Amino acid sequence: MQGVIDYLRQNESRFVSELCEYVRFPSVSAQPQHRSDMQACAGWVVKHCRQIGLEARLCPTAGHPIVVAKTPRAKTKGPRRPHFVVYGHYDVQPPEPLDLWKSPPFEPRIVNGVMYGRGTSDNKGQNLAHVKAVEAYLKTGTELPCYITFVIEGEEEVGSSSLASFLRKHRAELACDAIVISDTGMPTPKHPALTYALRGIIGFEVTLHGPSRDLHSGIFGGTVDNPAMALCQLLGKLRDENGRVTIPGFYEGVQSLSAYERKQFARLPFNARDYQKFLGVPKLFGERGFTPLEQRSARPTFEINGLTSGYQGEGSKTIVPAWARAKITVRLVPNQDPARVIKRIGQHLEKLFPPTARLEIEWGHKAEPYLVSPTGPQAQAALRALRLAFGCEPVLMREGGSIPIVNDFKKILRAESLLMGLALPDCNAHSPNETFNLTCFAKGQLMSAHLWQELSKC
Ligand code: BES
Ligand code: MN
Repeated sequence: MQGVIDYLRQNESRFVSELCEYVRFPSVSAQPQHRSDMQACAGWVVKHCRQIGLEARLCPTAGHPIVVAKTPRAKTKGPRRPHFVVYGHYDVQPPEPLDLWKSPPFEPRIVNGVMYGRGTSDNKGQNLAHVKAVEAYLKTGTELPCYITFVIEGEEEVGSSSLASFLRKHRAELACDAIVISDTGMPTPKHPALTYALRGIIGFEVTLHGPSRDLHSGIFGGTVDNPAMALCQLLGKLRDENGRVTIPGFYEGVQSLSAYERKQFARLPFNARDYQKFLGVPKLFGERGFTPLEQRSARPTFEINGLTSGYQGEGSKTIVPAWARAKITVRLVPNQDPARVIKRIGQHLEKLFPPTARLEIEWGHKAEPYLVSPTGPQAQAALRALRLAFGCEPVLMREGGSIPIVNDFKKILRAESLLMGLALPDCNAHSPNETFNLTCFAKGQLMSAHLWQELSKC
């Protein structure tokens, strides 16, 4: 192991340049104009994995390709070795709005020990940390106590629509003892974290159609409903002044927090005033009766992600717009059922929309919430690896984000996911000026190196 640790330290700056190379690909899965960049980025990952001694291949899908890379398997039959799958994604969120970036999103830049660039934290830096740990084993000739297969996909940020069928097709090859995922966060560099719950998600778009074309608002305004106004009124009814979602049945099944969980929450460093300042809001808002940490990870939400209607260009244009649209995501917690919630939302919107407009709902991706016991032997092994790498006591936490595929890993591969995130709260994931802390990058590599030892003892 010492050889592995030394190798990681000696090659630290090369690893940082390699992360820069990785970040330079504008691998935005949501935008069709980046299709070839997606391909190129996946190709880079394959080439990189081959260079360090992994057996790697590019797997085409109906959407963006999936990279599979495996540590060499023993030629002769020895004792059974455990097998772990490391999951990550090479796709990134759209970088817009571009004018808010201090430097171009796909031209990585390092300032004060952090790398700026879209995808640095989410998720390129985090999955590369694992690749580098495995490189250290392979390049120093240190025997790995387990087999490792990397599955790095290109559709995580758009709902992982190709991966489930891929898992079904390659069920035998991917059969494993656990999935390791670094695609979540940690509260501070002194609080490495094992995440044991994620929220689920439902994405959809609601459109209210009004007149058959934009109308002169002076000539016709006052006689027809304004779809933008009607949509605002409709959406405004979906949340009350206590921050509760008013859709009947929305909270059905929501699990309340146990005393044990409340205790874990209380261990997390949190200061409401600093948090409010950090977010730049005049005052925090959330569901009454819950702390901010609970609100953002253990409670469901209804969020408008985008709102569009009418004229958006410079100056003014006096019209009654023909339509208005909202992009919405709902976050779900254990044990809400996405299908039921979808039904409830649909029924409620059908009931509420005014007769002066036509309602259209387009359902998008969905994922179930995830919850795993943090007390099992693998979780304990993960905590040991975090402790060894970071030199301090790890915390257990729930996260508010979603990783759609974790429930498919459980159902299809029958394996639980160990969520060991390396992103800090101020990393600006999905925002302009995304960063990845390079100390977390280095410690993440060390964590991964220890993890294979600790997990293989289970
Ligand atoms: N890495 C995130 C998920 C995450 C972030 C989990 C922070 C926990 C804490 C992931 O890449 C992501 O952003 N997923 C999307 C999924 C969606 C597009 C289906 C999300 O949560 O919005
Ligand atoms: Mn993301």
